[in-house]
Amino acid sequence: MIQKDFISKDYAGQLEETDFGWQSPSNIALIKYWGKREIQIPANPSISFTLDNCHTKTWVTVSTKVQTAKEFSFEIFLDGASKPDFAPKIETFFKRVQIYLPFVNAYHFKIQTTNSFPHSSGIASSASGMSALALCFMSMENSLVPNMDQEYFYKKASFLSRLGSGSASRSIEGPLMVFGEHQDIAESSNLYGIKYQGELHKNFKNYQDTVLLVDVGEKKVSSTVGHDLVNGHPFASARFEQAHKNLSDLLYILKQGDLEAFVKVVESEALVLHAIMMSSQPYYLLLRPNTLRIIEKIWEYRANTASNLCFTLDAGANVHLLYPEAEKEAVLQFIKNELVVYCKNEQYICDQIGFGAKKL
Ligand code: PMV
Repeated sequence: MIQKDFISKDYAGQLEETDFGWQSPSNIALIKYWGKREIQIPANPSISFTLDNCHTKTWVTVSTKVQTAKEFSFEIFLDGASKPDFAPKIETFFKRVQIYLPFVNAYHFKIQTTNSFPHSSGIASSASGMSALALCFMSMENSLVPNMDQEYFYKKASFLSRLGSGSASRSIEGPLMVFGEHQDIAESSNLYGIKYQGELHKNFKNYQDTVLLVDVGEKKVSSTVGHDLVNGHPFASARFEQAHKNLSDLLYILKQGDLEAFVKVVESEALVLHAIMMSSQPYYLLLRPNTLRIIEKIWEYRANTASNLCFTLDAGANVHLLYPEAEKEAVLQFIKNELVVYCKNEQYICDQIGFGAKKL
């Protein structure tokens, strides 16, 4: 589908003054999206595990807009408390989606949101938050266009999520999602994420993700700034080529269930993401000493056991531990014995592969 396929025709009716709610998961990229063109067009394709326990629940209540209101009329609450500091991001989202959802300037929207993971835990809520919001707006559009095709609903939800945050486009379905065009993946697109349709070996069933919280709070350099610094980066074109190749390799690994090969690709991707940050101009560092201590402990653990435990990283200091369900007990023991000391206030979050967003 192309961009203009997402532009809506005139609606016959009016929106009902009611609530629209969705629960949407976070996701963790295995092949990283880093670098983009305007607006949120990825410089390379990415693939992610959809998570389960880490999610956002959002309800949007539609009401009549007062005549004197600004172009976009909304209020936003997190855990019941007003959050005016979220407004600029939502305003940008409304501006970007207006051409695709022409009703966004015709009503007042009360947005109420809550995350299952602790606020300012360093877990990015933009993927789950933006996708939950986009899905609520798609439910509104669906109420105006009742015969909407399911496939179109999810594609457009992902398309709109992308306009909020690129990685949010991968938070719609599961257990894996692809965002960005790749020659080996039919129907992959730079405009929206699609569910990975290939074979998934049983080794990856219920794959675990335990997130070790190393550093909590605001990131020193935002993802928006980070993506921009990839433009003109001296390694950029080699990195984009590498991401295409790593994704091809990973597709084979997912089919074959080759966990040793999985570890190599996934850890390399995590380190390359941070290597790009460290070699951007200006350069910066989001890893913390405890991130490196954890990584070294994981390598030591693997060298001393037959484990397939590996790590990946987001744009921050926290470490995602990925491992097969069969290793759950042993890895949780390892975390308690050796890794928890490196976590802020001994905090970590246990999650696993999930199957996508749910209507509330
Ligand atoms: O969705 P954004 O614009 O915050 O970009 C996120 C990019 C990474 O999380 C670092 C990697 C990824 O693919 O999710």
